[in-house]
Amino acid sequence: MIKLRVAGTGRFLPERVLANDDLSLSLDTSDEWIRSRTGIVERRLLAPETPPAFMGIAAAEKALRQAGLDPEKLDLLVVATNVPEELIPGSSPFIAEGLGLPHEPPFFDIKAGCAGFVFGMAVAGAMMKSGLARNALLVGIEALSRFVDWEDRKTCVLFGDGAGAVALVMADDDRGILGISLHGDPTKRGLLRIPAGGVRLPASFETVQAKKHFLEMKGRGVYQSAVTMMERATLEATERAGISLADIDWLLPHQANLRIIEALVKRLGFPRERVLVNIDRVANTSTASIPILLDEAVRAGKIVDGDILALTAFGAGACYGTVILRW
Ligand code: UT7
Repeated sequence: MIKLRVAGTGRFLPERVLANDDLSLSLDTSDEWIRSRTGIVERRLLAPETPPAFMGIAAAEKALRQAGLDPEKLDLLVVATNVPEELIPGSSPFIAEGLGLPHEPPFFDIKAGCAGFVFGMAVAGAMMKSGLARNALLVGIEALSRFVDWEDRKTCVLFGDGAGAVALVMADDDRGILGISLHGDPTKRGLLRIPAGGVRLPASFETVQAKKHFLEMKGRGVYQSAVTMMERATLEATERAGISLADIDWLLPHQANLRIIEALVKRLGFPRERVLVNIDRVANTSTASIPILLDEAVRAGKIVDGDILALTAFGAGACYGTVILRW
């Protein structure tokens, strides 16, 4: 067990709302298609001139404030994202700069597709347990609106922008991470990717012309893998926590598709009323989806002391995992 307490949560959603009907003005799609296949009704979009780090800093400041944690006392900053501010050095230095951390605590990015927040939780928790940090700030930031082809109806309708953060401190009671299961299946790495811009296919005039810098997705393949991956990780993490599924008060699944969530819940035999869902309003915000969902539920008073939560996600890589947390 890793004794820790989520002392603060925060989220930031951009103001601009893009409804399904707005998309159907420029794309061969419809509210009915998107709603029935995904559960998405609308999503938020970050203004093109605003860097995604802005959202991460805003969410992080809220989490730190709620935790009463002075940024100058922060021991560790972990940023999970698929939209680096710059390819090198990523996003974490930009978040550290925005928060103002003159004592220079360590920061780094985690790239584990949409599972980045769950992986980040495990890494931050393990570093706290090992004594490398007494507290940590974990931020999930996503603005995939920058990386999708707005002419590709198969991908662009699915994603929304946003950020979420949690401030973690040591706990001296029985709160904390009870069980973790993390996995990766490299045979699925082709399901979700941006082919160009890395070293295998460097940016060139041709790659831009061929739209190789946009997100490519084999939707059906992702869909089929997602359910079994989250099921496996959740069963394993629950077993490692020494609890049963019936002990879990709230399931917080990555918000990729309502049908994926419902299929997972059905396979697990988990009660639907204990599953948190906000995909209708925010769509798939990738690594930011779980911390946004968590912050909404905490601030609405749904999650209370002693509750057991299961955070489960899958994403590009394919990386997947579940963290069981006693609140
Ligand atoms: O965080 C991980 C991110 N990714 C995901 O979670 C994606 C997981 N996959 C899914 O959510 C589903 O596979 C989708 C929602 C992406 C697609 O649903 P589907 O039931 O698997 O549809 P499909 O890809 O088999 O496409 C069925 C039809 C196709 O038409 P044709 O070729 O059979 O004539 C598509 O072109 O639906 C068409 N289609 C659309 N039609 C209207 C695909 N996207 C759209 C659209 N509007 N936005």
